[in-house]
Amino acid sequence: MSFISDKIDQRRTFAIIAHPDAGKTTLTEKLLLFGGAIQLAGAVKARGEARRAHSDWMKVERERGISVASSVMSFDYTGCAFNLLDTPGHEDFSEDTYRTLTAVDSAVMVIDSAKGIEEQTRKLFEVCRLRDVPIITFINKLDRDGREPLDLLDEIEQTLALDVTPATWPIGMGRDFLGCYDLLSDRLVLMEKGAKGALPKEGEQFTGLDDPKLADRLPSHAYEKLVEDVEMVRGLCPPFDRDSYRAGHLSPVFFGSAVNNFGVRELLNGIAEMAPSPRVQNTTTREVLPDEDKVTGFVFKIQANMDPKHRDRIAFVRICSGHFKKGMKLTHVRTGKQLTMHAPTLFLAQDRELAEEAFAGDIIGVPNHGQLRIADALTEGESLFFTGIPSFAPEMLQKARPKDPLRAKHLGRALSQLAEEGAAQVFKPRIGADWIVGVVGPLQFDVLADRIRTEYDVPVIFEPTTLYTARWVSAEDPRVLKAFVDANQGALADDHDGDPVFLARNAWHLDRAAEDYPKVSFHKTKEHTGL
Ligand code: G4P
Repeated sequence: MSFISDKIDQRRTFAIIAHPDAGKTTLTEKLLLFGGAIQLAGAVKARGEARRAHSDWMKVERERGISVASSVMSFDYTGCAFNLLDTPGHEDFSEDTYRTLTAVDSAVMVIDSAKGIEEQTRKLFEVCRLRDVPIITFINKLDRDGREPLDLLDEIEQTLALDVTPATWPIGMGRDFLGCYDLLSDRLVLMEKGAKGALPKEGEQFTGLDDPKLADRLPSHAYEKLVEDVEMVRGLCPPFDRDSYRAGHLSPVFFGSAVNNFGVRELLNGIAEMAPSPRVQNTTTREVLPDEDKVTGFVFKIQANMDPKHRDRIAFVRICSGHFKKGMKLTHVRTGKQLTMHAPTLFLAQDRELAEEAFAGDIIGVPNHGQLRIADALTEGESLFFTGIPSFAPEMLQKARPKDPLRAKHLGRALSQLAEEGAAQVFKPRIGADWIVGVVGPLQFDVLADRIRTEYDVPVIFEPTTLYTARWVSAEDPRVLKAFVDANQGALADDHDGDPVFLARNAWHLDRAAEDYPKVSFHKTKEHTGL
Protein backbone atom coordinates (compact mmCIF):
# COMPACT_ATOMS: atom_id res chain seq x y z
CA MET A 1 0.00 0.00 0.00
CA SER A 2 1.34 3.41 -0.86
CA PHE A 3 2.22 6.01 1.74
CA ILE A 4 -0.78 8.13 0.80
CA SER A 5 -3.35 5.33 0.77
CA ASP A 6 -2.08 4.20 4.14
CA LYS A 7 -2.80 7.64 5.59
CA ILE A 8 -6.20 7.78 3.92
CA ASP A 9 -7.27 4.41 5.23
CA GLN A 10 -6.73 5.65 8.78
CA ARG A 11 -8.78 8.80 8.40
CA ARG A 12 -12.34 9.27 9.61
CA THR A 13 -13.77 12.70 8.95
CA PHE A 14 -17.16 13.13 10.55
CA ALA A 15 -19.61 15.53 12.18
CA ILE A 16 -22.15 15.20 14.94
CA ILE A 17 -25.71 16.16 14.14
CA ALA A 18 -28.11 16.81 16.98
CA HIS A 19 -30.85 19.02 18.28
CA PRO A 20 -29.64 21.47 20.95
CA ASP A 21 -29.35 19.85 24.38
CA ALA A 22 -29.22 16.28 23.10
CA GLY A 23 -25.62 16.12 24.30
CA LYS A 24 -23.45 17.00 21.31
CA THR A 25 -21.02 19.10 23.33
CA THR A 26 -20.76 16.49 26.05
CA LEU A 27 -20.20 13.70 23.56
CA THR A 28 -17.61 15.75 21.68
CA GLU A 29 -15.72 16.26 24.88
CA LYS A 30 -15.84 12.57 25.71
CA LEU A 31 -14.65 11.57 22.27
CA LEU A 32 -11.69 13.90 22.72
CA LEU A 33 -11.11 12.46 26.15
CA PHE A 34 -11.01 8.91 24.83
CA GLY A 35 -8.87 10.10 21.95
CA GLY A 36 -6.41 11.58 24.42
CA ALA A 37 -6.79 15.03 22.84
CA ILE A 38 -7.87 16.52 26.14
CA GLN A 39 -6.93 15.39 29.60
CA LEU A 40 -9.53 17.05 31.68
CA ALA A 41 -13.23 16.97 31.11
CA GLY A 42 -14.63 20.47 30.98
CA ALA A 43 -12.85 22.19 28.12
CA VAL A 44 -15.55 21.79 25.53
CA LYS A 45 -18.35 21.96 28.05
CA ALA A 46 -17.45 25.50 29.00
CA ARG A 47 -18.10 26.46 25.40
CA GLY A 48 -21.46 24.75 25.41
CA GLU A 49 -22.46 26.83 28.37
CA ALA A 50 -21.07 30.03 26.97
CA ARG A 51 -23.21 29.45 23.94
CA ARG A 52 -26.31 29.41 26.02
CA ALA A 53 -25.43 32.67 27.72
CA HIS A 54 -27.79 35.52 26.94
CA SER A 55 -27.38 37.21 23.62
CA ASP A 56 -25.48 40.45 23.38
CA TRP A 57 -22.79 41.93 21.19
CA MET A 58 -20.04 40.59 23.37
CA LYS A 59 -21.51 37.19 23.01
CA VAL A 60 -21.63 37.44 19.25
CA GLU A 61 -17.94 38.29 19.29
CA ARG A 62 -17.13 35.55 21.69
CA GLU A 63 -19.18 33.05 19.86
CA ARG A 64 -17.39 33.65 16.63
CA GLY A 65 -14.09 33.20 18.40
CA ILE A 66 -15.37 30.00 19.93
CA SER A 67 -16.64 28.49 16.75
CA VAL A 68 -13.24 29.01 15.15
CA ALA A 69 -11.33 27.28 17.90
CA SER A 70 -13.64 24.31 17.93
CA SER A 71 -14.40 24.15 14.21
CA VAL A 72 -12.31 21.07 13.65
CA MET A 73 -11.00 18.73 16.29
CA SER A 74 -8.46 16.10 15.43
CA PHE A 75 -7.51 13.15 17.56
CA ASP A 76 -6.13 9.65 17.23
CA TYR A 77 -7.66 6.47 18.56
CA THR A 78 -6.95 2.80 17.84
CA GLY A 79 -4.78 3.59 14.87
CA CYS A 80 -7.32 5.91 13.27
CA ALA A 81 -6.96 9.64 12.76
CA PHE A 82 -10.30 11.30 13.47
CA ASN A 83 -11.34 14.72 12.25
CA LEU A 84 -14.48 15.87 14.00
CA LEU A 85 -16.05 18.90 12.34
CA ASP A 86 -18.26 21.08 14.47
CA THR A 87 -21.78 21.79 13.30
CA PRO A 88 -22.82 24.92 15.21
CA GLY A 89 -26.24 24.20 16.54
CA HIS A 90 -27.53 26.68 19.08
CA GLU A 91 -28.17 30.29 18.18
CA ASP A 92 -25.26 30.14 15.78
CA PHE A 93 -27.06 27.66 13.56
CA SER A 94 -26.32 28.83 10.02
CA GLU A 95 -25.74 27.75 6.48
CA ASP A 96 -22.25 26.82 7.66
CA THR A 97 -23.86 24.16 9.79
CA TYR A 98 -25.38 22.62 6.69
CA ARG A 99 -22.31 23.10 4.53
CA THR A 100 -20.01 21.45 7.03
CA LEU A 101 -21.91 18.29 6.22
CA THR A 102 -20.65 18.51 2.63
CA ALA A 103 -17.10 18.18 3.93
CA VAL A 104 -17.50 15.01 6.00
CA ASP A 105 -17.51 11.34 5.06
CA SER A 106 -19.93 10.27 7.78
CA ALA A 107 -21.98 11.60 10.67
CA VAL A 108 -23.02 10.64 14.17
CA MET A 109 -26.62 11.49 15.01
CA VAL A 110 -27.15 12.10 18.72
CA ILE A 111 -30.64 11.64 20.08
CA ASP A 112 -31.91 12.36 23.57
CA SER A 113 -33.57 9.14 24.70
CA ALA A 114 -36.43 11.06 26.29
CA LYS A 115 -37.09 13.21 23.23
CA GLY A 116 -36.45 11.15 20.12
CA ILE A 117 -36.08 12.87 16.76
CA GLU A 118 -36.32 16.63 17.11
CA GLU A 119 -36.57 19.44 14.58
CA GLN A 120 -32.92 20.30 14.08
CA THR A 121 -31.86 16.67 13.92
CA ARG A 122 -34.33 16.17 11.14
CA LYS A 123 -33.14 19.20 9.18
CA LEU A 124 -29.51 18.16 9.47
CA PHE A 125 -30.38 14.61 8.59
CA GLU A 126 -32.02 15.84 5.38
CA VAL A 127 -28.81 17.57 4.41
CA CYS A 128 -26.91 14.34 5.04
CA ARG A 129 -29.40 12.53 2.89
CA LEU A 130 -28.72 14.83 -0.06
CA ARG A 131 -25.38 13.07 -0.37
CA ASP A 132 -26.29 9.79 1.34
CA VAL A 133 -23.83 10.44 4.15
CA PRO A 134 -23.57 7.28 6.28
CA ILE A 135 -24.96 7.81 9.77
CA ILE A 136 -24.25 6.13 13.07
CA THR A 137 -26.86 6.85 15.74
CA PHE A 138 -26.04 7.44 19.40
CA ILE A 139 -29.01 7.41 21.74
CA ASN A 140 -27.93 9.41 24.75
CA LYS A 141 -28.95 9.93 28.37
CA LEU A 142 -29.82 6.32 29.19
CA ASP A 143 -29.06 7.21 32.80
CA ARG A 144 -32.37 9.09 32.77
CA ASP A 145 -35.81 7.72 32.26
CA GLY A 146 -36.54 7.95 28.59
CA ARG A 147 -38.59 6.26 25.94
CA GLU A 148 -38.45 2.56 25.22
CA PRO A 149 -35.50 1.71 22.96
CA LEU A 150 -37.73 -0.15 20.51
CA ASP A 151 -40.05 2.82 20.32
CA LEU A 152 -37.08 5.09 19.52
CA LEU A 153 -35.79 2.78 16.80
CA ASP A 154 -39.24 2.70 15.31
CA GLU A 155 -39.43 6.49 15.33
CA ILE A 156 -36.09 6.87 13.54
CA GLU A 157 -37.16 4.39 10.94
CA GLN A 158 -40.54 5.98 10.40
CA THR A 159 -39.71 9.67 10.51
CA LEU A 160 -36.41 9.54 8.66
CA ALA A 161 -37.15 6.58 6.40
CA LEU A 162 -33.85 5.10 7.52
CA ASP A 163 -33.29 1.46 8.39
CA VAL A 164 -31.79 0.93 11.82
CA THR A 165 -30.00 -1.93 13.49
CA PRO A 166 -28.81 -1.97 17.10
CA ALA A 167 -25.06 -2.22 17.62
CA THR A 168 -25.43 -2.24 21.40
CA TRP A 169 -28.47 -2.83 23.55
CA PRO A 170 -29.24 -1.07 26.84
CA ILE A 171 -29.98 -2.98 30.00
CA GLY A 172 -32.53 -0.97 31.94
CA MET A 173 -32.72 2.80 32.00
CA GLY A 174 -32.77 5.70 34.39
CA ARG A 175 -31.85 4.66 37.89
CA ASP A 176 -31.97 1.03 36.81
CA PHE A 177 -29.58 1.49 33.91
CA LEU A 178 -26.92 -1.19 34.29
CA GLY A 179 -25.03 -0.90 31.05
CA CYS A 180 -25.08 -2.21 27.51
CA TYR A 181 -24.53 -5.45 25.72
CA ASP A 182 -22.36 -4.95 22.66
CA LEU A 183 -24.13 -6.99 20.01
CA LEU A 184 -21.34 -6.69 17.48
CA SER A 185 -18.52 -7.99 19.67
CA ASP A 186 -20.52 -9.86 22.35
CA ARG A 187 -19.23 -7.87 25.27
CA LEU A 188 -21.05 -6.80 28.36
CA VAL A 189 -20.12 -3.31 29.51
CA LEU A 190 -21.51 -2.37 32.88
CA MET A 191 -21.78 1.13 34.16
CA GLU A 192 -19.91 1.76 37.32
CA LYS A 193 -21.97 3.99 39.50
CA GLY A 194 -20.13 6.90 41.02
CA ALA A 195 -17.19 6.59 38.65
CA LYS A 196 -18.11 9.76 36.79
CA GLY A 197 -14.66 11.03 35.85
CA ALA A 198 -13.17 7.62 35.06
CA LEU A 199 -13.23 5.88 31.72
CA PRO A 200 -15.37 2.73 31.89
CA LYS A 201 -13.75 -0.66 31.65
CA GLU A 202 -13.67 -2.42 28.32
CA GLY A 203 -16.25 -4.98 29.25
CA GLU A 204 -16.25 -8.73 29.45
CA GLN A 205 -16.22 -11.03 26.45
CA PHE A 206 -18.93 -13.67 26.03
CA THR A 207 -19.71 -16.20 23.35
CA GLY A 208 -23.21 -14.85 22.89
CA LEU A 209 -26.38 -14.02 24.77
CA ASP A 210 -26.82 -17.70 25.61
CA ASP A 211 -23.39 -17.86 27.28
CA PRO A 212 -24.24 -19.24 30.76
CA LYS A 213 -21.64 -16.92 32.28
CA LEU A 214 -23.63 -13.92 31.10
CA ALA A 215 -26.67 -14.92 33.15
CA ASP A 216 -24.45 -14.87 36.22
CA ARG A 217 -23.32 -11.33 35.64
CA LEU A 218 -26.78 -9.76 35.62
CA PRO A 219 -29.78 -9.84 37.93
CA SER A 220 -32.11 -12.50 36.53
CA HIS A 221 -34.91 -10.10 35.51
CA ALA A 222 -32.39 -7.88 33.67
CA TYR A 223 -30.87 -10.86 31.90
CA GLU A 224 -34.25 -12.19 30.84
CA LYS A 225 -35.37 -8.81 29.54
CA LEU A 226 -32.11 -8.40 27.63
CA VAL A 227 -32.53 -11.75 25.88
CA GLU A 228 -36.17 -11.05 25.16
CA ASP A 229 -35.53 -7.53 23.83
CA VAL A 230 -32.67 -8.61 21.63
CA GLU A 231 -34.65 -11.46 20.22
CA MET A 232 -37.47 -9.11 19.37
CA VAL A 233 -35.29 -6.39 17.92
CA ARG A 234 -33.38 -8.89 15.83
CA GLY A 235 -36.65 -10.05 14.42
CA LEU A 236 -37.67 -6.50 13.58
CA CYS A 237 -34.44 -4.91 12.35
CA PRO A 238 -32.20 -6.02 9.50
CA PRO A 239 -28.73 -7.25 10.50
CA PHE A 240 -25.83 -4.83 10.11
CA ASP A 241 -24.79 -4.58 6.51
CA ARG A 242 -21.74 -2.49 5.70
CA ASP A 243 -22.78 -1.63 2.15
CA SER A 244 -26.20 -0.54 3.23
CA TYR A 245 -24.68 1.66 5.98
CA ARG A 246 -22.11 3.12 3.59
CA ALA A 247 -24.86 3.91 1.10
CA GLY A 248 -26.68 5.89 3.80
CA HIS A 249 -29.61 3.48 4.03
CA LEU A 250 -28.94 1.75 7.34
CA SER A 251 -27.87 3.27 10.64
CA PRO A 252 -26.24 1.20 13.39
CA VAL A 253 -27.49 2.39 16.76
CA PHE A 254 -25.43 2.71 19.94
CA PHE A 255 -26.86 3.50 23.36
CA GLY A 256 -25.09 5.31 26.15
CA SER A 257 -24.74 8.17 28.54
CA ALA A 258 -22.20 10.67 27.35
CA VAL A 259 -22.03 12.53 30.62
CA ASN A 260 -21.00 9.27 32.32
CA ASN A 261 -18.50 8.43 29.55
CA PHE A 262 -20.70 5.46 28.92
CA GLY A 263 -21.02 3.94 25.47
CA VAL A 264 -18.43 6.31 24.07
CA ARG A 265 -15.72 3.71 23.56
CA GLU A 266 -18.11 1.42 21.69
CA LEU A 267 -19.18 4.36 19.54
CA LEU A 268 -15.57 5.27 18.74
CA ASN A 269 -14.76 1.67 17.90
CA GLY A 270 -17.85 1.64 15.74
CA ILE A 271 -16.71 4.72 13.82
CA ALA A 272 -13.21 3.26 13.45
CA GLU A 273 -14.51 -0.06 12.15
CA MET A 274 -17.53 0.92 10.11
CA ALA A 275 -17.26 4.53 9.00
CA PRO A 276 -15.76 5.15 5.59
CA SER A 277 -12.35 6.66 5.00
CA PRO A 278 -12.16 9.76 2.74
CA ARG A 279 -14.38 9.39 -0.25
CA VAL A 280 -14.07 9.91 -3.97
CA GLN A 281 -15.11 13.47 -4.85
CA ASN A 282 -17.10 14.52 -7.86
CA THR A 283 -16.11 17.44 -10.01
CA THR A 284 -17.56 18.89 -13.17
CA THR A 285 -14.93 17.06 -15.21
CA ARG A 286 -13.95 13.84 -13.45
CA GLU A 287 -13.86 11.93 -10.18
CA VAL A 288 -11.01 12.75 -7.83
CA LEU A 289 -9.64 9.77 -5.92
CA PRO A 290 -8.30 10.43 -2.42
CA ASP A 291 -5.00 8.65 -3.09
CA GLU A 292 -4.05 10.62 -6.17
CA ASP A 293 -0.59 12.21 -5.92
CA LYS A 294 -1.62 15.76 -6.61
CA VAL A 295 -3.28 17.90 -4.00
CA THR A 296 -6.85 19.08 -4.50
CA GLY A 297 -9.30 20.59 -2.05
CA PHE A 298 -12.36 22.79 -1.77
CA VAL A 299 -13.51 25.59 0.49
CA PHE A 300 -16.61 24.69 2.48
CA LYS A 301 -16.67 27.40 5.10
CA ILE A 302 -15.30 30.85 5.62
CA GLN A 303 -14.76 32.32 9.02
CA ALA A 304 -14.45 36.05 8.85
CA ASN A 305 -13.58 38.88 11.06
CA MET A 306 -11.80 37.16 13.87
CA ASP A 307 -10.03 40.44 14.27
CA PRO A 308 -12.34 43.07 12.77
CA LYS A 309 -9.45 45.49 12.25
CA HIS A 310 -7.57 43.16 9.98
CA ARG A 311 -10.38 41.87 7.83
CA ASP A 312 -8.73 38.52 7.87
CA ARG A 313 -10.60 35.44 6.88
CA ILE A 314 -9.94 31.80 7.30
CA ALA A 315 -11.10 29.56 4.53
CA PHE A 316 -11.68 26.00 5.68
CA VAL A 317 -10.46 23.69 2.98
CA ARG A 318 -11.23 20.01 2.83
CA ILE A 319 -8.31 18.20 1.27
CA CYS A 320 -9.65 15.74 -1.32
CA SER A 321 -6.43 14.18 -2.60
CA GLY A 322 -2.66 14.25 -2.49
CA HIS A 323 -0.05 14.98 0.13
CA PHE A 324 -0.39 18.58 1.21
CA LYS A 325 2.69 20.24 2.65
CA LYS A 326 3.05 23.58 4.30
CA GLY A 327 4.60 26.19 2.01
CA MET A 328 3.41 24.57 -1.22
CA LYS A 329 1.89 26.67 -3.97
CA LEU A 330 -1.66 25.87 -5.01
CA THR A 331 -3.70 27.22 -7.88
CA HIS A 332 -6.87 29.03 -6.96
CA VAL A 333 -8.87 27.66 -9.87
CA ARG A 334 -11.56 30.35 -10.06
CA THR A 335 -9.05 33.18 -10.51
CA GLY A 336 -6.13 31.18 -11.89
CA LYS A 337 -3.85 32.78 -9.27
CA GLN A 338 -1.18 30.96 -7.32
CA LEU A 339 -1.54 30.94 -3.55
CA THR A 340 1.38 30.03 -1.34
CA MET A 341 0.29 28.11 1.72
CA HIS A 342 2.54 29.98 4.13
CA ALA A 343 0.56 29.56 7.26
CA PRO A 344 -2.11 26.90 6.93
CA THR A 345 -3.66 25.96 10.25
CA LEU A 346 -4.75 22.67 11.58
CA PHE A 347 -7.36 22.86 14.27
CA LEU A 348 -6.76 20.85 17.37
CA ALA A 349 -8.94 20.59 20.40
CA GLN A 350 -7.23 23.22 22.47
CA ASP A 351 -4.97 24.98 20.11
CA ARG A 352 -4.33 25.81 16.56
CA GLU A 353 -1.11 24.43 15.22
CA LEU A 354 0.65 25.12 12.00
CA ALA A 355 -0.19 22.31 9.65
CA GLU A 356 2.95 20.72 8.29
CA GLU A 357 1.16 18.20 6.14
CA ALA A 358 -2.31 16.94 5.43
CA PHE A 359 -4.07 14.23 3.44
CA ALA A 360 -7.51 13.61 1.98
CA GLY A 361 -10.12 14.01 4.70
CA ASP A 362 -8.08 16.57 6.62
CA ILE A 363 -9.17 20.15 7.01
CA ILE A 364 -6.77 23.03 6.78
CA GLY A 365 -7.48 26.66 7.53
CA VAL A 366 -6.10 29.04 4.92
CA PRO A 367 -5.82 32.68 6.00
CA ASN A 368 -6.71 35.12 3.24
CA HIS A 369 -8.14 38.56 2.66
CA GLY A 370 -11.36 37.60 1.00
CA GLN A 371 -10.11 35.99 -2.22
CA LEU A 372 -11.37 32.55 -1.27
CA ARG A 373 -15.08 31.81 -1.52
CA ILE A 374 -17.32 28.88 -0.74
CA ALA A 375 -16.86 25.98 -3.17
CA ASP A 376 -13.60 27.36 -4.60
CA ALA A 377 -11.15 24.68 -5.64
CA LEU A 378 -7.43 24.62 -4.88
CA THR A 379 -5.28 22.33 -7.00
CA GLU A 380 -1.72 21.84 -8.20
CA GLY A 381 -2.68 23.39 -11.51
CA GLU A 382 -5.59 21.33 -12.79
CA SER A 383 -8.73 23.25 -13.63
CA LEU A 384 -11.61 21.51 -11.90
CA PHE A 385 -14.68 22.43 -9.89
CA PHE A 386 -16.01 20.25 -7.13
CA THR A 387 -19.73 19.60 -7.09
CA GLY A 388 -21.94 18.88 -4.10
CA ILE A 389 -21.19 22.04 -2.11
CA PRO A 390 -24.50 23.82 -2.59
CA SER A 391 -26.12 26.92 -1.20
CA PHE A 392 -29.15 26.17 0.92
CA ALA A 393 -32.45 27.99 0.68
CA PRO A 394 -32.74 30.37 3.63
CA GLU A 395 -35.45 29.81 6.17
CA MET A 396 -35.60 33.39 7.41
CA LEU A 397 -35.87 36.42 5.19
CA GLN A 398 -35.53 40.05 6.18
CA LYS A 399 -35.30 43.36 4.38
CA ALA A 400 -32.02 45.23 4.73
CA ARG A 401 -31.76 49.00 4.48
CA PRO A 402 -29.05 51.43 5.50
CA LYS A 403 -29.77 53.77 8.40
CA ASP A 404 -28.41 56.52 6.19
CA PRO A 405 -30.25 56.32 2.86
CA LEU A 406 -27.25 57.83 1.11
CA ARG A 407 -25.26 54.71 1.86
CA ALA A 408 -27.49 52.34 -0.08
CA LYS A 409 -24.75 51.61 -2.61
CA HIS A 410 -22.25 50.80 0.11
CA LEU A 411 -24.75 48.47 1.67
CA GLY A 412 -25.25 46.76 -1.68
CA ARG A 413 -21.52 46.20 -1.96
CA ALA A 414 -21.22 44.88 1.58
CA LEU A 415 -24.12 42.50 1.05
CA SER A 416 -22.79 41.16 -2.19
CA GLN A 417 -19.38 40.49 -0.60
CA LEU A 418 -21.02 38.71 2.30
CA ALA A 419 -23.05 36.66 -0.14
CA GLU A 420 -19.92 35.69 -2.04
CA GLU A 421 -18.33 34.60 1.16
CA GLY A 422 -21.35 32.46 1.91
CA ALA A 423 -22.30 34.34 5.08
CA ALA A 424 -25.86 34.96 3.84
CA GLN A 425 -28.06 34.78 0.81
CA VAL A 426 -28.76 38.15 -0.73
CA PHE A 427 -31.64 38.67 -3.14
CA LYS A 428 -32.55 41.69 -5.21
CA PRO A 429 -36.30 41.69 -5.87
CA ARG A 430 -37.26 42.47 -9.45
CA ILE A 431 -39.64 45.12 -8.15
CA GLY A 432 -38.62 47.60 -5.46
CA ALA A 433 -35.33 48.94 -4.14
CA ASP A 434 -34.78 46.84 -1.04
CA TRP A 435 -32.42 43.99 -0.53
CA ILE A 436 -33.76 40.78 0.90
CA VAL A 437 -31.31 38.88 3.07
CA GLY A 438 -31.86 35.24 3.86
CA VAL A 439 -30.31 33.12 6.60
CA VAL A 440 -31.05 29.81 8.27
CA GLY A 441 -30.42 30.82 11.91
CA PRO A 442 -31.89 33.88 13.65
CA LEU A 443 -28.68 35.04 15.29
CA GLN A 444 -27.14 35.48 11.86
CA PHE A 445 -28.95 38.78 11.37
CA ASP A 446 -27.22 40.16 14.47
CA VAL A 447 -23.88 38.87 13.28
CA LEU A 448 -24.41 40.35 9.82
CA ALA A 449 -25.51 43.74 11.13
CA ASP A 450 -22.47 43.78 13.37
CA ARG A 451 -20.13 42.88 10.53
CA ILE A 452 -21.63 45.35 8.07
CA ARG A 453 -21.24 48.10 10.64
CA THR A 454 -17.69 47.28 11.72
CA GLU A 455 -16.20 46.04 8.46
CA TYR A 456 -18.01 48.21 5.94
CA ASP A 457 -18.96 51.15 8.12
CA VAL A 458 -22.62 50.99 7.14
CA PRO A 459 -25.10 50.93 10.00
CA VAL A 460 -27.87 48.70 8.72
CA ILE A 461 -31.41 47.93 9.78
CA PHE A 462 -32.96 44.52 9.24
CA GLU A 463 -36.73 44.50 9.10
CA PRO A 464 -39.04 41.52 9.20
CA THR A 465 -40.87 40.61 6.02
CA THR A 466 -43.90 38.49 5.40
CA LEU A 467 -41.82 36.19 3.21
CA TYR A 468 -41.82 32.53 4.07
CA THR A 469 -39.04 30.96 2.04
CA ALA A 470 -36.99 31.21 -1.14
CA ARG A 471 -36.58 28.67 -3.93
CA TRP A 472 -34.26 28.77 -6.90
CA VAL A 473 -36.30 28.18 -10.04
CA SER A 474 -35.34 26.48 -13.27
CA ALA A 475 -37.00 24.77 -16.21
CA GLU A 476 -35.71 22.66 -19.03
CA ASP A 477 -37.45 24.85 -21.56
CA PRO A 478 -36.34 28.50 -21.22
CA ARG A 479 -39.73 29.62 -22.54
CA VAL A 480 -41.49 27.90 -19.65
CA LEU A 481 -39.23 29.66 -17.18
CA LYS A 482 -39.77 32.98 -18.86
CA ALA A 483 -43.54 32.57 -18.76
CA PHE A 484 -43.34 31.80 -15.04
CA VAL A 485 -41.01 34.69 -14.33
CA ASP A 486 -43.11 37.16 -16.31
CA ALA A 487 -46.30 36.13 -14.55
CA ASN A 488 -44.70 36.30 -11.08
CA GLN A 489 -42.57 39.45 -11.21
CA GLY A 490 -43.82 40.51 -7.79
CA ALA A 491 -42.39 37.37 -6.18
CA LEU A 492 -39.21 37.14 -8.22
CA ALA A 493 -35.74 38.18 -7.20
CA ASP A 494 -32.19 37.55 -8.37
CA ASP A 495 -29.51 36.07 -6.17
CA HIS A 496 -26.00 37.47 -6.19
CA ASP A 497 -25.08 35.40 -9.23
CA GLY A 498 -28.14 36.73 -11.08
CA ASP A 499 -30.03 33.44 -10.85
CA PRO A 500 -33.81 33.71 -10.47
CA VAL A 501 -35.35 33.04 -7.10
CA PHE A 502 -38.99 32.70 -6.16
CA LEU A 503 -39.85 34.37 -2.83
CA ALA A 504 -42.91 32.64 -1.43
CA ARG A 505 -45.23 34.44 0.98
CA ASN A 506 -46.37 31.21 2.61
CA ALA A 507 -46.45 27.47 2.09
CA TRP A 508 -49.65 27.74 0.10
CA HIS A 509 -48.13 30.33 -2.26
CA LEU A 510 -45.24 27.95 -2.95
CA ASP A 511 -47.48 24.91 -3.44
CA ARG A 512 -49.77 26.86 -5.68
CA ALA A 513 -46.90 28.08 -7.89
CA ALA A 514 -45.59 24.51 -8.16
CA GLU A 515 -49.05 23.27 -9.12
CA ASP A 516 -49.63 26.01 -11.67
CA TYR A 517 -46.22 25.53 -13.27
CA PRO A 518 -45.51 21.79 -13.14
CA LYS A 519 -42.61 22.17 -15.57
CA VAL A 520 -40.81 24.65 -13.35
CA SER A 521 -38.56 23.15 -10.68
CA PHE A 522 -38.29 24.80 -7.27
CA HIS A 523 -34.94 24.02 -5.67
CA LYS A 524 -34.02 24.09 -1.99
CA THR A 525 -30.32 24.05 -2.87
CA LYS A 526 -28.19 25.57 -5.57
CA GLU A 527 -24.94 24.14 -6.80
CA HIS A 528 -22.04 26.54 -7.15
CA THR A 529 -20.70 26.67 -10.65
CA GLY A 530 -17.21 27.61 -9.54
CA LEU A 531 -17.29 30.68 -11.75
P1 G4P B 1 -25.73 20.10 23.21
O1 G4P B 1 -24.30 20.42 22.94
O2 G4P B 1 -26.27 19.06 22.29
O3 G4P B 1 -26.62 21.28 23.29
O4 G4P B 1 -25.84 19.40 24.63
P2 G4P B 1 -24.87 19.42 25.87
O5 G4P B 1 -23.75 18.48 25.69
O6 G4P B 1 -24.54 20.83 26.25
O7 G4P B 1 -25.84 18.76 26.93
C1 G4P B 1 -27.08 19.32 27.26
C2 G4P B 1 -27.45 18.92 28.67
O8 G4P B 1 -27.61 17.51 28.73
C3 G4P B 1 -26.38 19.26 29.69
O9 G4P B 1 -27.04 19.55 30.89
C4 G4P B 1 -25.62 17.97 29.82
O10 G4P B 1 -24.94 17.85 31.05
C5 G4P B 1 -26.74 16.97 29.72
N1 G4P B 1 -26.28 15.64 29.29
C6 G4P B 1 -25.44 15.31 28.29
N2 G4P B 1 -25.28 13.99 28.24
C7 G4P B 1 -26.02 13.46 29.22
C8 G4P B 1 -26.26 12.13 29.69
O11 G4P B 1 -25.74 11.16 29.19
N3 G4P B 1 -27.11 12.00 30.73
C9 G4P B 1 -27.70 13.07 31.34
N4 G4P B 1 -28.49 12.83 32.36
N5 G4P B 1 -27.49 14.33 30.94
C10 G4P B 1 -26.66 14.52 29.89
P3 G4P B 1 -27.18 20.99 31.47
O12 G4P B 1 -28.02 20.93 32.67
O13 G4P B 1 -27.57 21.95 30.39
O14 G4P B 1 -25.71 21.33 31.82
P4 G4P B 1 -24.89 20.80 33.09
O15 G4P B 1 -25.20 21.79 34.13
O16 G4P B 1 -25.35 19.43 33.39
O17 G4P B 1 -23.47 20.84 32.63
